[in-house]
Amino acid sequence: MSKRTIKDYDNISIEAQNLTGPLDFADIFGRIAQVHIEIGSGKGTFLLSEATHRPNADFLGIEWARKYYRHAVDRIGRWGLTNVRIIRTDVAAFLPGHVPDESISCFHIYFPDPWPKKRHHKRRFVCTGNIEQIIRCLKPGGVVNIATDHQEYFAAITRVIDMQVSLGRLEQIDFIRAAGAEPAEVVGTNYERKYIKAGRPVYTIAARKL
Ligand SMILES: C[S@@+](CC[C@H](N)C(=O)[O-])C[C@H]1O[C@@H](n2cnc3c(N)ncnc32)[C@H](O)[C@@H]1O
Repeated sequence: MSKRTIKDYDNISIEAQNLTGPLDFADIFGRIAQVHIEIGSGKGTFLLSEATHRPNADFLGIEWARKYYRHAVDRIGRWGLTNVRIIRTDVAAFLPGHVPDESISCFHIYFPDPWPKKRHHKRRFVCTGNIEQIIRCLKPGGVVNIATDHQEYFAAITRVIDMQVSLGRLEQIDFIRAAGAEPAEVVGTNYERKYIKAGRPVYTIAARKL
């Protein structure tokens, strides 16, 4: 069986090496609308579904792995979605350099790499420094929505969020299910589907910027 050719779509991908300074989302999407960022968008399943269900919002996926990034660009391009862009870059460096203050309505962080070994915990994305960046980028009232299958990482994420709640920067809210999630799912990403099949629980947490 021949493999389908993965195509590039210049209208979907944003070239990280061409970026200088903060992004202008109105220019990128050609309109003023709510902007959502998905961190670690993998093969783009959430972006595809959510952007289809929410045509009035704009979505930026950030993905480091070239293979997943190319797959996601190909899928979004073939579907002809105009409200999604994807960038291949390291999110921890991208946020401080390129996302303006109070510009984002929602951050979606689904099944971030858990780095289970203690000596690797410092590589986890959800940590105090990165949550402070997320808070800086969120509009007042904006939301960060997180799901993971990893119980110990979830406890660490909860501590990071709780600290920001105690500082009066965030308030905890109910997790917002994705518009296209199936009844047993919370978001319907590839990893969630894999973990549901394996019978693993999914933990969720969400918070709103005060
Ligand atoms: C466990 S996968 C989850 C993918 C998808 N969110 C899902 O639920 O199916 C984590 C994803 O985050 C990406 N990732 C990890 N570190 C990253 C970083 N520093 N910047 C951008 N993406 C990153 C990985 O390449 C991978 O695709």
